[in-house]
Amino acid sequence: MGHNMSGLKYHMSLPVTVGVLLVGLPYSISLAAQWLYGWPDKPGYKKYIEALKPRRIYYLTKAVLESLRYLQYGKLYCQCTSWYENQENHKHYEKGITFGRRGNKLDLYYPPNNEKSEDVSAAPLVVFIYGGAWGSGERYVYCLLARQMAEELSATVICPDYCTYPKGNVLAMVQDVADCLVWAQESAQKFNFNKDNIVLIGHSAGAHLCALTTLFLIDGREELFIESSKQQDVTLSIKGIIGLSGVYNIMDHYEHEQKRAVEYVSTMHKAMNGVGNFAYYSPTHFLKKLSQEKLNRVPQFTLLHGTSDFIVPVESSINFSELLTSLSVKVTLYLLPGVDHTEIATDLMASNRRFYHLIYSCVKQEFRRFVGTC
Ligand SMILES: *[C@@H]1O[C@H](CO)[C@@H](O)[C@H](O)[C@H]1NC(C)=O
Repeated sequence: MGHNMSGLKYHMSLPVTVGVLLVGLPYSISLAAQWLYGWPDKPGYKKYIEALKPRRIYYLTKAVLESLRYLQYGKLYCQCTSWYENQENHKHYEKGITFGRRGNKLDLYYPPNNEKSEDVSAAPLVVFIYGGAWGSGERYVYCLLARQMAEELSATVICPDYCTYPKGNVLAMVQDVADCLVWAQESAQKFNFNKDNIVLIGHSAGAHLCALTTLFLIDGREELFIESSKQQDVTLSIKGIIGLSGVYNIMDHYEHEQKRAVEYVSTMHKAMNGVGNFAYYSPTHFLKKLSQEKLNRVPQFTLLHGTSDFIVPVESSINFSELLTSLSVKVTLYLLPGVDHTEIATDLMASNRRFYHLIYSCVKQEFRRFVGTC
């Protein structure tokens, strides 16, 4: 009798356990995510009601589980940190040069055969701005990328840190990128690169910052707190911008985040100082308001975007290229089949990665066109 009872209990508890797991796990995961990164922007208890909506729970759980895919980059990450820490590699780059008003640091990677270039004209400069949703990112993670890029493009490459949220908001990030460009103007002789031949390459939020900083400089914005003559010099030195899976319209991207139910846990709206400033910090919106005279100074763009990118949809680059074309700004658009949001950056780090040659062949061709060596 006692035995039968416990058997019954067991049979009852299995479906209950499965039920609890199926419901409880997603709720725990997505509540934890919202607790850590931000509740819905609703007054009082309403934020919890919004937070508990089944649709939100479903999509948030999905987003959290999808992010487990980053675990596959563990090995690559270790390769980066060990390369960065190895003293031997210091012949390839200068580590931790301080620049700008916030004392951020940048690393500078030499082009191949830098030593014997005394009489040859100095190498062009690439400024690489990493992504990380305006809220994360560190320059050492991109050491292998910067090293390969210097090699592939025969260019000096600099990779600066910038103050991501919550250290600073988007304006501070734009100031940091601008400071980095001012630093380049002042340090070209010392490090033997051509200060008048600069290409900006940015990934994701970094592509947004490249575009936005350039537009702020062209517009001579006082908020940059940089002398206007310096702003003009910097503007003239930028020969092209290469955006990898970039965000160019913040409102459109916010709508995409809403579809994925990540708009409140995402750093974007906080880094942009709220929804009210989305237009102001969107390169798309900015371009539409520039005078023709300033539009003429906008450098050429190249936009690369993977068709398997679900974090920033490919329409972001398609829409931006259509806008640029309509304003007669030169743009080339590459849609890369099968490439996702991370691969477009991680696969630039080592030549054995799946899309290395595909992506570099586009970047190389466009880069050469920009700096005039084809
Ligand atoms: C692209 O443009 C279309 C039409 O204006 C718009 O509906 C869509 O949201 C845009 N998508 C992105 C991701 O920018």
